[in-house]
Amino acid sequence: MTNVSKRPRRLRASQVIRDLIADVTVGPNDFVAPLFIKQNAVSPVEIRSMPGIYQHTLESLLKEADRLFSFGVRSFMIFGIPTHKDPLGSQAYARDGITQVAISTLKQHFGGSVVVMADLCLDEFTDHGHCGILDKNGYVDNDATLELYGEMALAQAGAGVDFVGPSGMMDSQVGAIRNTLDNSGFKEVGIIAYSVKYASSYYGPFRDAVDVCIADGGDRKTYQQDFKNSKDAIVEVELDITEGADIVMVKPAGAYLDVLARIRDRVDVPIAAYQVSGEYSMIKAANALGYLDGNAVALEQLYAIKRAGADLILSYFAHELPELLGNSL
Ligand code: PBG
Repeated sequence: MTNVSKRPRRLRASQVIRDLIADVTVGPNDFVAPLFIKQNAVSPVEIRSMPGIYQHTLESLLKEADRLFSFGVRSFMIFGIPTHKDPLGSQAYARDGITQVAISTLKQHFGGSVVVMADLCLDEFTDHGHCGILDKNGYVDNDATLELYGEMALAQAGAGVDFVGPSGMMDSQVGAIRNTLDNSGFKEVGIIAYSVKYASSYYGPFRDAVDVCIADGGDRKTYQQDFKNSKDAIVEVELDITEGADIVMVKPAGAYLDVLARIRDRVDVPIAAYQVSGEYSMIKAANALGYLDGNAVALEQLYAIKRAGADLILSYFAHELPELLGNSL
């Protein structure tokens, strides 16, 4: 034995030294806050399985966006909930569809001081609840759906969106949307691609949030990824970058940090991670039962997502950053 003592504990001895050597940070600039807007709503409605998160009216949407802005969250992801759903999801690309109205309302209010993103997918707008339209045998028709995604991108771009977020997992969706935008004079509109999106039970509470029920007890396993496969995540990311994605996303976050870290090693485009509804609800429920300290667990999860390599995080906890970050905000 030598008498040289290597003691990692020296670096943990006080808050000051821990803060000094910390190499992962979480702050308001890292967040995109999801916002739900419900057409014709007369008052905001709290989502049963997501305490603290609301289906907004236009008025309460602006109020919440102002509140987020006041503590530094300046990016939003809009999810529209229409009153009318049909097989082709026509409200998704109607010029006066609820998502479009929300985008233009936010842009008129904030101008360039915020980034407005919008979910680009048909499931909130179709009566069968699938992310695309169905062929005569009831299967999702990939290529016919791409045309409608193009229409949706144009409607959102026309309303002033900064980034569209294709989340339907149709093959070639990023390329199709990029082409459509470019050919219609919307070269400046970006794409935040839900590139790696697993068919996940963590999306359960989100379906309450957007009033979606998949017809006949169906699921999305034929178009979203299988969590038993790790390699197709890389294929999906590389395809989306080739097709023109500006930002790629991994979703859900917490159970897929290995995938996030692998992608971080491979690509240099910005990577987003989506801490989804079920991840939020689990922490909220356990906190309400007194089983753990919800704020502390939430923060630990958010740091883990950053540590694994995410540059930005979509999270419902964006709405409570002052409570989570306290003095470090
Ligand atoms: C599709 C979409 C979903 C989510 C975001 N975009 C649902 C799905 O794919 O079934 C889930 C987000 C969450 O659970 O917080 N429009």
